Amino acid sequence: MSPHPAPSDERRGPAGSALGYLDWLFNPFQRRDAQAVYDLLGTGAITAEGLYLNLGYWAEEDDLDAASAALARLVADTAGFGPEDTVLDVGFGFADQDLLWVRSHEPARIIGLNITASQVAVARQRVVEAGLEERIELCEGSATAMPLADASVDCVVALESAFHFQTRADFFAEAYRVLRPGGRLVTADIIPLPPAKRAVDRLRQRLSWWLVASRFAIPEANRYTRLAYPGYLTAAGFVDVYVRSIREQVYAPLHAWLRAHPETLERIHPVARLPARWARRMDADRLYAGLDYILASAVRP
Ligand SMILES: C[S@@+](CC[C@H](N)C(=O)[O-])C[C@H]1O[C@@H](n2cnc3c(N)ncnc32)[C@H](O)[C@@H]1O
Repeated sequence: MSPHPAPSDERRGPAGSALGYLDWLFNPFQRRDAQAVYDLLGTGAITAEGLYLNLGYWAEEDDLDAASAALARLVADTAGFGPEDTVLDVGFGFADQDLLWVRSHEPARIIGLNITASQVAVARQRVVEAGLEERIELCEGSATAMPLADASVDCVVALESAFHFQTRADFFAEAYRVLRPGGRLVTADIIPLPPAKRAVDRLRQRLSWWLVASRFAIPEANRYTRLAYPGYLTAAGFVDVYVRSIREQVYAPLHAWLRAHPETLERIHPVARLPARWARRMDADRLYAGLDYILASAVRP
């Protein structure tokens, strides 16, 4: 169970209209940016307690709230958050992970950066209600134009958000700029899988990637696999670059959990329930055929 429930007076649920959802989900030509997608979704998270928006790390968990928090802990452990650290969290959603890290890893300070104003407003309210304004500062802004001085933070993390950035490579350059020498960058990121051998499997991969990328505002420039990902980090100047796939601990167990929990459908907009039911019936292998999920880390020399 999440220790950070949504405030009781907060309207929990999707913010968009039925027409907005119809256009987003069924118009193949719609071109919403990430901000417009998250404005539409509102606080319609499918977690039962908190407002996490990530897919979770399911190595040991059997519940979405717990798996989402486990992914946040994995990112913090990989970055090695310590008591002296100023952490920059880029794409913080509703700040669930910041509320978690401030207690679990106790960094000196967390600065959050998020492009979606509606999320920033809700997240700030949650931080105030938790009495943590001194330790968590949440800003509205873009991953590719950070309102921070050069060499001013110790860790930069992007928990399931860098795939949205316009572009991810520009974000790497900004992360390098704001990190102090010795500072760490960690991403938990969605990317395409390396191409399969058989043509029919490559077609499935492309369809699966297109479905996700076109609905969730993933720029074409960010469509590269884990084989190319390290090269983008080294091109930005990073060293000690590690990229590993954790897809087996993400998509299949999440899919199994969603299948076993039909009540999650009640938490999404009625228009979205039809495609969600269709997706639940599909095999995980088919549905996520084109999707990889990686954990990447790098150091600014
Ligand atoms: C899938 S959500 C993940 C939220 C959160 N990290 C979590 O795990 O619950 C992606 C987040 O990235 C943010 N985002 C997308 N593009 C961004 C950008 N260019 N700059 C900053 N944040 C961005 C979105 O507003 C959203 O909060």
